[in-house]
Amino acid sequence: MIRYLLLPSSCLCTAAVVCSTVCAKDEDVASAASSAAGAFKTWSELSCYQRAKVLLKLASVLQRHSQCVSELCELSQSSTSPAVLIRLAQYYASWAQLRDTLMPEWIPQGVVAVVVSDDCSVYYLLLKVLPALAMGNAVIVVPGKTSTLPALLLAQLFMEAGIPAGVLNVVSGSEASLGAKVAQNPQVNYLTYSGRQHTGEALAKAVAGWGVPMSFSLSLSSVCTFIIFDSADLDSAVDGVIELAFEKKRDFQWVLCVQESVLDSVVAKLKLRMTGMKCVPLATETDRNFIEAAVQEAQQQGATLMQSCPPASTGALYPPTVLCGLAPSCESVISPPPGPVLPLISFRSSAEGVTLGNHSPYGQAASIWTEDLTLALESAKSLCVGSVWVNCHSVMDPALPLCGRRESGNCTDGGREGLYQFLRPSHSPSFPRSSPSSINYADFGSAVSKFMIPERFDPSSVPRFYYQFVGGQLHKADSGCSRSVLAPGGAVLAHCPDGGRKDVRNAVEAAIKVQPGWTKKSPTARSQSLYSLADSLDKRRRDLAVSIQTQTGISLEEAEKEVELSVSRLTDWAARCDREQGGTPFPPQSGSALSTPEALGVLGVILPNSKPLLSLVSLLGAAVAMGNAVIMVPSEKYPLPALEFIQVLQASDIPGGLVSIITGGRDQLTQALANHSVIQSIWYWGSKEGCQFLQYSCVSPLKRLWLHCEEEEEREAGRNWTSSNPSLQEELWRKAVVWKSIWIPTA
Ligand SMILES: *[C@@H]1O[C@H](CO)[C@@H](O)[C@H](O)[C@H]1NC(C)=O
Ligand SMILES: *[C@@H]1O[C@H](CO)[C@@H](O)[C@H](O)[C@H]1NC(C)=O
Ligand SMILES: *[C@@H]1O[C@H](CO)[C@@H](O)[C@H](O)[C@H]1NC(C)=O
Repeated sequence: MIRYLLLPSSCLCTAAVVCSTVCAKDEDVASAASSAAGAFKTWSELSCYQRAKVLLKLASVLQRHSQCVSELCELSQSSTSPAVLIRLAQYYASWAQLRDTLMPEWIPQGVVAVVVSDDCSVYYLLLKVLPALAMGNAVIVVPGKTSTLPALLLAQLFMEAGIPAGVLNVVSGSEASLGAKVAQNPQVNYLTYSGRQHTGEALAKAVAGWGVPMSFSLSLSSVCTFIIFDSADLDSAVDGVIELAFEKKRDFQWVLCVQESVLDSVVAKLKLRMTGMKCVPLATETDRNFIEAAVQEAQQQGATLMQSCPPASTGALYPPTVLCGLAPSCESVISPPPGPVLPLISFRSSAEGVTLGNHSPYGQAASIWTEDLTLALESAKSLCVGSVWVNCHSVMDPALPLCGRRESGNCTDGGREGLYQFLRPSHSPSFPRSSPSSINYADFGSAVSKFMIPERFDPSSVPRFYYQFVGGQLHKADSGCSRSVLAPGGAVLAHCPDGGRKDVRNAVEAAIKVQPGWTKKSPTARSQSLYSLADSLDKRRRDLAVSIQTQTGISLEEAEKEVELSVSRLTDWAARCDREQGGTPFPPQSGSALSTPEALGVLGVILPNSKPLLSLVSLLGAAVAMGNAVIMVPSEKYPLPALEFIQVLQASDIPGGLVSIITGGRDQLTQALANHSVIQSIWYWGSKEGCQFLQYSCVSPLKRLWLHCEEEEEREAGRNWTSSNPSLQEELWRKAVVWKSIWIPTA
């Protein structure tokens, strides 16, 4: 079903009401989902060439209707031009053509729901829809207020381009609740959202537990920094500030940071440029009241105002305003008011400038200004954001990934990297659909474990007492409690610590001390450490094989095979340290750009039951090779091989604290990892309830999640650990990195 709207051939004037759109009902959602599911089959079975042809045709249809498209963009207050949309269509036509050549082991997700918030621009909408279609998915779009018309027009243009019926569906209504309804439909396989944070949060919570993988691009509510170093060409920098800060339509809020030694001249130049600038129209008069209150509060906190003209007393208008002399902790710096208001803060050393840039909880983008190339590249590397513009701002191109960090999202759009959200390795099955359980989120993981034994238990009476590995040292659990490790027959094999929140905290503290140094090491040095780990495992292969055998009950021969494979897997990751480098895509504008993978930081991993040693080293290898620190929670059922592995770690030259191993109740430790704001990502193998809990509670602060529902019995939860298929390894390292684009214009 394509729900569309007939537009007059051209000329949409800015009348108050252009048209009204229908609000989708439950039946509409159901019929959109079933037509998408049916059409997916047709679409995904076409050849790459046939899909590419439709996208190329779309580019020429867009060209033909460029007048209408540009009027519609204007109407939806979007700064996008038809030329930009045509470039998007052409870019993704090429990827549609090359999918099978360049990503042979990957297949489409199925039916993808694309939800965008009210004021999301057409560009961001297409940055989801086009790659989804190019990779062979069917799409259901739930547009926001401003993108409803463009989305409907797009559907019509796609029909003209010859897309099979049902491949693209648009259902309009209120985006958060309708988006949730669409995602809850069992025929939908993936949900991706672009827009504002609060709508995203509501959507994530409503969809938790339904078994839909999802990702969030929250660029719209992000605050970005504009950093002027003393080595900058001040005139161009000030031009840049004027261009981006006082426009009516902007993609982000900005905070201006200026090095103290040039503060006076920057302020003087700004003042000069601002004289005579007119008031900027706002969306509503309420916005003006809101801005006035924020400005007043800033003044009370010591800000001085620089305004182009005095504010009018009524109307939805406000003059371009700079708030000077604020402290970084002020409310108007942390969340600047909407409209043409720019907070300005100053810093002394260049290092301080970078620290200021990383001060906000967001990680979308930064613009840095300096003529010093070394400083530019070094600051670009140290800023925790997805895009860095050097001596420019707001440039975008689909060839470069747009990756939100921290509160700016857990999704990568654009570039080759952005395609993978719409694909999965052909060897791993899709996430099982479910309906949510009633979980008391506040109590999750607080149940007392049934295996617990008291502190005063005499350890000499059981075969062995193991310690956990935190901060490079052996420790008991902070609680003092232990739990029994049982053999398949039920006999007590050993005791291990019953770790909890405090142990996780200690592990994180140790991890953040070593991880920055580990990331900065050369790939060769990292790979040497991983080789030493593989070597150390090789030396203890007998002990490890015995531990796998006693723990899981498989034959010694099979256990030895698992150890053998584990050594080879670690060697594989050691070799890959040097390989995964990112690239330099070719932007159409003059200048250069880099796209580089970076470490996420500290990862939490709840390990699967299956292949307890091989799965541990596969995940550990990927995380550590890419520069992360990792806190691993061994499978609750089969912890023994992981506990034995601690000796392997100790004997290697992996720095202490980079890898911690904490045993204990799975739910309790999942809760502790989810609760820690430093942990950027959680890879989880466990219960359906655990997946639901994580989806619900890792919304704020936002984390990257990789969830696997492993039911009690021996289901392999989708992954064949013994397989050496390259797409499975690629999926792993892609989960262990975030992407940064650095734009360097020349001339
Ligand atoms: C951790 O839990 C405490 C108490 O339940 C809660 O107040 C806090 O917001 C949580 N922190 C995070 C980062 O989830
Ligand atoms: C992004 O965050 C949401 C909310 O917690 C979560 O459900 C989702 O799995 C995350 N997606 C990715 C790709 O990390
Ligand atoms: C897993 O992969 C290995 C090696 O590619 C293969 O021999 C084995 O049959 C696979 N197992 C399953 C359950 O698919």
